[in-house]
Amino acid sequence: MIHEEADGTPRISGETGPAEEDLSVNLRPQSLSEYIGQNKVVETLKIAIEAALQRKESLDHILFNGPPGLGKTTLAHIIANEMGTRIITSSGPALEKGGDLMGILTHLDKGDILFIDEIHRIPKVVEEFLYPAMEDYAVDFIFDKGVHARTHRYRLEPFTLIGATTRAGLLSSPLRERFGITRDLDFYDEKDLINIVERSASLLDVPVDRDGSYEIARRARGTPRVANRLLKRVRDFAQVRAKGKITRDVAMEALALEGVDEHGLGETDRKLLKAIIFNYKGGPVGIEALASTLQIETDVLLDVAEPYLLKTGFIIRTAQGRKATEKAYSHLNISQKNELSLFEGGRNRRRT
Ligand code: ADE
Repeated sequence: MIHEEADGTPRISGETGPAEEDLSVNLRPQSLSEYIGQNKVVETLKIAIEAALQRKESLDHILFNGPPGLGKTTLAHIIANEMGTRIITSSGPALEKGGDLMGILTHLDKGDILFIDEIHRIPKVVEEFLYPAMEDYAVDFIFDKGVHARTHRYRLEPFTLIGATTRAGLLSSPLRERFGITRDLDFYDEKDLINIVERSASLLDVPVDRDGSYEIARRARGTPRVANRLLKRVRDFAQVRAKGKITRDVAMEALALEGVDEHGLGETDRKLLKAIIFNYKGGPVGIEALASTLQIETDVLLDVAEPYLLKTGFIIRTAQGRKATEKAYSHLNISQKNELSLFEGGRNRRRT
């Protein structure tokens, strides 16, 4: 597969043929026809790809926004496959200096795809090189400083930038506006996740019945990456503690061992909800305070935990901060009345 090297240099795929260092089964779909879910996004891409191929042009720049694990990287690789081009991958944090990006841009061949993950984390000085690169397929080298400053425009081959971000709101508008196609990837519904689990189970050669795949799908936080991870844990359990087949009971037992409950909440989610309820009387509480109480990075809370808890209605976001909902209290078996009446009782006592 294609990854960045440990030192942040980009990796190129598509020129070395099918050499696959990782011998484990690749669960990622390789074409749009294999891709399950995100139907509107897939349709948009099919049309854009076919049109670009017919015109023998490079594809418009594309921005994918959404929580981790929903398929942003997978789609970028599929697009390269469908266009028959190379894909060069890097990430916002790896592009520390203008020169890092220049080096990549000036080595692109016609039609190449440049995939930048976490593009919202690109430093501002580096981002500015992207503007002429995206708009005019050119980069401006600046020589000397002050009154002697001269620029030399270096022509690039037409290429496609695919950016992935979990926080499109952090992108500057000049950068955001230079993408021809911008799509939000949303959480997958149960039906799509069941299909993904069944497809992966078949690739892994593990038997699963419908109730078994449903049990994994509904605990997968609407996220294919989570579904595939849970499937692998359940497969191990089935192999060692059952007869190899994934049934409802096998999945339930295996996932209970993983600490994943029937809504897909894990230990971190439950700690987060309990912190809001017990440490902050149900909220509202600011994300920074919550991160510091839980000793978890704010970015992890914002990118991973919070979107799913918001989507599933365990928390709400107000101008003052996050609040636990009734659903959170009842899911955790905590009486909201008691919590509230203790609080109110305290206040009343102070008043009298
Ligand atoms: N594996 C991971 N994501 C997938 C998807 N969207 N469709 C099919 N298989 C997948």
